[in-house]
Amino acid sequence: MSTENQQFERIPTRIFHNSSDAAQVVAQEIAALIRSRNEAGKKTVLGLATGSTPLPVYKELVRLHREENLSFRDVITFNLDEYHGLTPEHPESYHQFMWQRLFSMVDIPSDQVHVPSGTIPRAEVYEYCDRYEAEIEKAGGLDYQILGIGRTGHIGFNEPGSTRDSKTRLVSLDSLTRRDAARDFLGEANVPRYAITMGVGTILKATQVVLMAWGEAKADVVQQAAEEPPNENLPAGLLQGHPDVRFFIDEPAASALTRIKNPWLVGAMDWTDASIRKAVLWLSNSVEKPILKLQDSDYNECGLGELLTEVGPAYDLNIRVFNQTQHTITGWPGGKPEADDSSRPERAKPFPKRVLVLSPEPADDILCMGGTIHRLNNQGSDVTLAYLTSGNLAVPDSMAQQILSLMSEMEKELDLKKSEEFSLGQIATVLLQELQTPEVEAGDSKSIRQVKSLVRRNEARDASHNLKVEQNKLHFLDLPFYENGRYRAFHPDEKDIAQLVDLLRNIKPHQIFFTGSLSDPGTVSGINFQLLRSALKLLANDDWISNLFLWSYRGVGQEWPLSEIDMAVPLSPDELNLKVEASFQYRSQRRQFPLRDSAHQEIWQQTDELNRNTAGSYDAVGMAEYEAIEAFKQFDLSEIIEL
Ligand code: F6R
Repeated sequence: MSTENQQFERIPTRIFHNSSDAAQVVAQEIAALIRSRNEAGKKTVLGLATGSTPLPVYKELVRLHREENLSFRDVITFNLDEYHGLTPEHPESYHQFMWQRLFSMVDIPSDQVHVPSGTIPRAEVYEYCDRYEAEIEKAGGLDYQILGIGRTGHIGFNEPGSTRDSKTRLVSLDSLTRRDAARDFLGEANVPRYAITMGVGTILKATQVVLMAWGEAKADVVQQAAEEPPNENLPAGLLQGHPDVRFFIDEPAASALTRIKNPWLVGAMDWTDASIRKAVLWLSNSVEKPILKLQDSDYNECGLGELLTEVGPAYDLNIRVFNQTQHTITGWPGGKPEADDSSRPERAKPFPKRVLVLSPEPADDILCMGGTIHRLNNQGSDVTLAYLTSGNLAVPDSMAQQILSLMSEMEKELDLKKSEEFSLGQIATVLLQELQTPEVEAGDSKSIRQVKSLVRRNEARDASHNLKVEQNKLHFLDLPFYENGRYRAFHPDEKDIAQLVDLLRNIKPHQIFFTGSLSDPGTVSGINFQLLRSALKLLANDDWISNLFLWSYRGVGQEWPLSEIDMAVPLSPDELNLKVEASFQYRSQRRQFPLRDSAHQEIWQQTDELNRNTAGSYDAVGMAEYEAIEAFKQFDLSEIIEL
């Protein structure tokens, strides 16, 4: 039953603290359904999805099978989709995905498993899809369909434009969807252009539909699907009206829903400092007036009359939020020594501070906080940059090839001495051959991954050199979960945590800058955040921890909204240039395609624009006008541990 604060939601939506809590509930529902149908002597027909989203559900189902006797002997499954053109053996095929993550780990008979085939010749696809539909019907229809959602709003591979009654068919993939899959396929060029997918109509015929979404990247599209009138430009919105559809989402994915974003629009509020700040900044933005010019009438006309009555008048509210916002701005991110720090984001003492910047992969640090790193370092803080993973999975073959060719040619051209058993040049030649005849199925060999790690390491060295950080202040952790995994198949464990614990204990920082708290926990930055959380839990009783301030940067291409910023570090035009120059060093992270639209901006263009926009937002609410700003949100240790 929906409540007052869900009045904007057209689909029943449950918000969970995190994805594992939500996944537990979904897995329990599936288990209960299987058991009750078994008792009634019926089979259970499940509609399954791939991607990162359902992973925690599959993990829990496997646990229930192993530890609580949940049997899949009478379960029939139909997967939503498969890339067209991939063999079942291809590591990125959805066949592989399903067998590795679920089917091979439970007792489901293989003839009860259905994943659309990616190898049906084009001419036979139409008939094949008809048969897929018929098989679902023959099995009795889908009892329970689970879904993820793409950033285009797709469900299955039903991209915008798919109709409500569409059936299983061959579709071409949206360019945003292909870009999102680029990492899995080690480059956008390798992502298939077509897929076979169940239609929206096929999905709507399921008895129960549960759509899950994790992480802030899904927040906007979840809000549109749940709150906006249904239309074919957003296929997930077409689920509205299904008699038994529910959204199960985590807090970051819920952040754009009206009840979270503008809670004063859905009912009475218990006004707190944070919600007052949020409401006033929202108002200033909506009516396009600086904070100090907001009037009673603005509050009343925009649904904030209650705030005015309880905490007003406008003048007092304005001053209060103006000051709070003003106090977030500091040119001294490590604290200003000898200064009154009562209204500064950072303490004056101790000074200088030991600062640890944690970067999920090389480049995150510079792109998100290059200007701040430069300032901290310049102002005397002892800054260490730690790269948690090597980032080698995101280096294109072409880059590795260039370097190996150079090595192999150098040997010939410079006539290097060949006294060693294998010269560098010979090794390079062998690796080059490997790159030229890739075994897509197996992925890169260890040696190629090492070459790619070195590419990123050197980029990180060059970029931090631009910012004048000494080279012995760089730590490359190369966490094992990443080195031994691939996208969507990372298995972090105690070894990763132990490495992080060692680093933290060695440095005993006064400030940690980190990211990933809002990311899907299956992504590299999400995993790194979870590892930091676990490490801090283990260290919670160390002495130095009580002097620790935790600052979070939002992530590449994103910034905190004004109302959540606790520290805003202005950058001068020269500093912004320096940061952009440092970002140039990350050549392996360049887009490999011609610029077609703004989404294809180079990373340094994105970061330049973002930092200028943040300064613009401060200016718009009536603060001083800066060239650019990098922003941070502060977390309490206990808050992090509980996230
Ligand atoms: C997968 C599928 C897709 C995904 C969606 C979200 O079978 O049909 O619709 O659910 O692209 O992907 P993830 O979960 O990787 O964010």
